[in-house]
Amino acid sequence: MAERKRVVSGMRPTGRLHLGNLHGALANWIELSKRDDLECFFFSADWHALTTGYAATAAIRADEREMFVDMLAAGLDPARATLFVQSAVKEHAELYLLLGMVTPNPWLERIPAFKEQQQELRDRELNTYGFLGYPLLMTADVAAYRASLVPVGQDQLAHLELAREIVRRFHHFYGDVLVEPQPLLTKAPKVWGTDGRKMSKSYGNTIVLGEDEESTRRKILRATTDPARVRRQDPGNPENCGIFHLHEIYSSPERVAEVDRGCRTAAIGCVDCKRGLLTALLPAQAKLRERREAILAKPAQVDEAVSAGNEEARRVAGETLAAVRDAMHLSRGAGG
Ligand code: TRP
Ligand code: SF4
Repeated sequence: MAERKRVVSGMRPTGRLHLGNLHGALANWIELSKRDDLECFFFSADWHALTTGYAATAAIRADEREMFVDMLAAGLDPARATLFVQSAVKEHAELYLLLGMVTPNPWLERIPAFKEQQQELRDRELNTYGFLGYPLLMTADVAAYRASLVPVGQDQLAHLELAREIVRRFHHFYGDVLVEPQPLLTKAPKVWGTDGRKMSKSYGNTIVLGEDEESTRRKILRATTDPARVRRQDPGNPENCGIFHLHEIYSSPERVAEVDRGCRTAAIGCVDCKRGLLTALLPAQAKLRERREAILAKPAQVDEAVSAGNEEARRVAGETLAAVRDAMHLSRGAGG
């Protein structure tokens, strides 16, 4: 078989995953890991979590565990993708340090997310070396596996552009030992939170994977719809409604067309529309709940999958770092 292309991506360990994480990233990871032409590595970006969350680290391992349980429950198969923890593979840190030697500060400072997030997270001191280095760490994450493809969202494109520039600069000094990573942009469906903003843990507007029936129902029935649809007889625009976007994910195409028409002509009301969504969403949530429970009944299998993944990740990243040290004349002989 031809050499399989390597795919690497990471997710910060934020605890239980929500429907935005599932449809925005995880569902895509699952699809990629089913392909025989790809070799997938997916990790918990725990060091990345520290770049903004260094002041509150107590829950990081518990959150990571919940995330892995959800990944497995959603159908990510550890036999088809290497699941691991960033901080368990020290090669990420070594490569981060070495790449840092050739990375001009302005390249990091001009990343749009750098200033934006400092503005957004004003309650935290983010004028730190770790926060500035975030996209460099990400570069090391993918370069350590010589990955050619990195599934990311639109918001991470600038980081990958930087990763390619850093790899090129490294090659200029030491020769072509790494691989320039390309983004794998997938059109993720829209998942809005219950308040009409993007679904995000920091907004407190999420529905988690397998959330219980009562609470899923309550959140959907209270969720914001098209704000222009004030009265029952007002026609709506489904594009401006998070409920419609969930229909697009969970309901049949015929049903989606019906909702679209019914909303635009005010033939259906929002409560009926939401009840219709629940008939598709609740069984999907029940299935996820069952799978979570089955996994939690045998917790050792999660640890086994992750420790086997860590080992495999160390093996592959170890090969890359050996080549990098060689190229930089840093390898040592038998003297150690
Ligand atoms: N930066 C990504 C995020 O915050 C997570 C991440 C860390 C990542 N390292 C990565 C994604 C490497 C892709 C490849 O969402
Ligand atoms: Fe949203 Fe449905 Fe109401 Fe239209 S009818 S605004 S799609 S909930």
